[in-house]
Amino acid sequence: MIPIIVIDGPAGTGKGTIAALLAERLGWHLLDSGALYRVLGLAATQQQVPLNDGKKLTQLAESLALQFQDGRVLLDDADVTEAIRAEAIGMAASQVAAHSPVRSALLNWQRQCAQLPGLIADGRDLGTVVFPDAALKIFLDASAEVRANRRYKQLIEKGLSANLLALIADIRERDDRDRHRAVAPLCAAANAVLVDSTTLSISEVFDQVWKEVRRVFPHLIQ
Ligand code: DC
Repeated sequence: MIPIIVIDGPAGTGKGTIAALLAERLGWHLLDSGALYRVLGLAATQQQVPLNDGKKLTQLAESLALQFQDGRVLLDDADVTEAIRAEAIGMAASQVAAHSPVRSALLNWQRQCAQLPGLIADGRDLGTVVFPDAALKIFLDASAEVRANRRYKQLIEKGLSANLLALIADIRERDDRDRHRAVAPLCAAANAVLVDSTTLSISEVFDQVWKEVRRVFPHLIQ
């Protein structure tokens, strides 16, 4: 049995940061499933594939020359680690992710990431669809305003321009699409532990999640 921890939740809750911290602390593999959809969104944008063309997007997903290497993301050997983080690509990712055959095409790729000594995976449907038998499922949430505000600060710190109201509107639009799509919508698995990070720092969220890790895997942690 390969131990798996999943973290699902909407955009900007800090899932990726918590997942990376857990993977480092436990020495387990890490799967950022959002990066897969982002790479597909980027490839579709570059190749001018319309984001509502499920058939072409599925072909693109099936032939995606994607690699994760030492924390970098490569598409056709080009480093796209930063490019896939753009707001517009997040929005494109959310659109390509709404097509059922696109999701099926990316399913095996995700499942193959489950390898010993264990896997930490974050996304929207990891606990409900990709790894329904995961030993520990966390659902991380926060208010849209707080999530947009965190994103705003990140962009400003990077010296980029940002508009808070536009970010709030974007986050609401993306949440709405991710929560209400027909296939694998964003929702907490019935047996997920809910953590609301609205008023918590990253280290406070990590402490709460770590408590759950200790509860579920007491034999792994001294
Ligand atoms: O986690 P993220 O913001 O990098 O994800 C980008 C988009 O990809 C998100 O808006 C919806 C989609 N996504 C998904 O549908 N299922 C996942 N497991 C992960 C991401």
